[in-house]
Amino acid sequence: MITTIKTTPFTDQKMGTAGLRRKSKVVTQEHYIENFVQSIFNVIDNLSEKTFLVGGDGRFYNDIAIQKIIKIAAANGVKKLLIAQNGYISTPAGSVVIRKNKLNGGLILSASHNPGGENGDFGLKYSNETGGQVPSSVTDAIYQQTLNISEYKICLGDDVDISKIGSTEYCGMQIEIIDALKDYVDMMQNIFDFNAIKQMFAKGFTMRFDAMNAVTGPYAIEIFENILGAPKCSVVNATPKPDFGGLHPDPNLVYAKELVDFMFSDKAADFGAANDGDGDRNMILGKGFFVTPNDSLAILTDNYKLIPHYKSGIYGVAKSAATSTAVARVAKEHNIGYYEVPTGWKYFVNLMDSNRITFCGEESFGTGSSHIREKDGIWAVLFWLNILAVTGKTVEEITVEHWKKYGRSYYIRFDFEGVDTSVADKLMADLETKLPTLASQVFEGFTIKEAKPFVYNDPVDNSSTKNGLVIYFADGSRIVYRLSGTGSSGATIRVYLERFSQNDILQNPLDMVSPLAKIALQVAEIPQRTGKQKADVIT
Ligand code: G1P
Ligand code: ZN
Repeated sequence: MITTIKTTPFTDQKMGTAGLRRKSKVVTQEHYIENFVQSIFNVIDNLSEKTFLVGGDGRFYNDIAIQKIIKIAAANGVKKLLIAQNGYISTPAGSVVIRKNKLNGGLILSASHNPGGENGDFGLKYSNETGGQVPSSVTDAIYQQTLNISEYKICLGDDVDISKIGSTEYCGMQIEIIDALKDYVDMMQNIFDFNAIKQMFAKGFTMRFDAMNAVTGPYAIEIFENILGAPKCSVVNATPKPDFGGLHPDPNLVYAKELVDFMFSDKAADFGAANDGDGDRNMILGKGFFVTPNDSLAILTDNYKLIPHYKSGIYGVAKSAATSTAVARVAKEHNIGYYEVPTGWKYFVNLMDSNRITFCGEESFGTGSSHIREKDGIWAVLFWLNILAVTGKTVEEITVEHWKKYGRSYYIRFDFEGVDTSVADKLMADLETKLPTLASQVFEGFTIKEAKPFVYNDPVDNSSTKNGLVIYFADGSRIVYRLSGTGSSGATIRVYLERFSQNDILQNPLDMVSPLAKIALQVAEIPQRTGKQKADVIT
């Protein structure tokens, strides 16, 4: 049944910030997935001894891609695949399964928070035995394979029924269909104080969790409603759909509008949260109150002693360079290690593996810990519930108290989307050239202290990565520029604005950063070069 098919390379199969992400229309071309999956297997030795996880966020083409992976894996002599029942597994649950079962890695089908469906995006991430995405050295090697591929091996058998839990064999390869919820739920129970949270719900505490018609719906119903006793229907948009019911499954103020409107209405629950398409991002809301991911990371870190699994002590914390410096102040106060890495969760993996950090996060609604090697949306929600249950305080009280103690980093991100790639590349290149001339200049009353590219030297593997350009101001404010690495077409210029205030903590964030926004646009000549007078998305 095994056959070899002749093929020609696609030149666009380079992985970005998190795996390969392309338009569904691109991915569904003949040989596209086959070439990419074969290229991954080409860089792995001893396949006959290796076991991998396969599953995804359930978006359009998830089912078809999984069958292709099964057939290519079998034809390449892979020992065994663990396949999530019906092909659904959240990114964090995938990391749990890989680690717990000591697998050699996994292929996770997800384009994360990007819209799905025939006209949306599709994606594929490759994780190794850490349960985290492979480093750039491996993605580069895979890319080289994709550029030189001339054939792939595939098994011509029927599709495998992946709807029932159990073991089977296919074309000489072992297959086990697994319950994708169980290991994850067990792990969460071992980390958090479920009894305290249960008691809080029993006393009438209310929450709304928006699963955005994506993969976390079943996890959220099991954990929040069935185990913790949140009222029925606390979880909304709970059924995963191939096109996310038309939603853009990105949990932020723009795309999780239904939840935001509810939490800012007079019917609001005590606590609101949302996850993204594959369950690794989270948004946290209180009654009429939004917690930025930057502040959330700082607050979780500051409160680690309230959580059973962390109370005996944590290693350090890390954030991406674009993320605000709020957590740095907490790290200093607790006298723990602090790291700043490029954008992308893969840069946290070495720090976790070497026990340098326990917590990490990004401004892009990603928060997590060393319990796995991916960010974890439901983990962040449980962490907040645990804090609320133990302190009896509201989300707003916790956050405002935090600002009173540590000061506040007002933070806003501007995205300029759909920019011509050559225009965006030139803008960044010219800005980089200009940076050294900016030091000591004063704009809008803000003095620039230093301006330079962000360069990360990994203390574990000694690799060096340049990602983004940073302007540092004398008062601690910062502007960071970078190009998105997750888009499926064109370029997105991201501009991250941070303004610190020790005492003036209750202002409107957009007002506070508006002088920085003006400087950011002017210095990089964004309107002149892109034709855009303002950002397309402000979060
Ligand atoms: C975006 C976020 C980044 C995150 C990534 C994957 O990447 O900015 O923080 O790690 O999605 O969820 P970007 O498009 O900016 O490269
Ligand atoms: Zn995601």
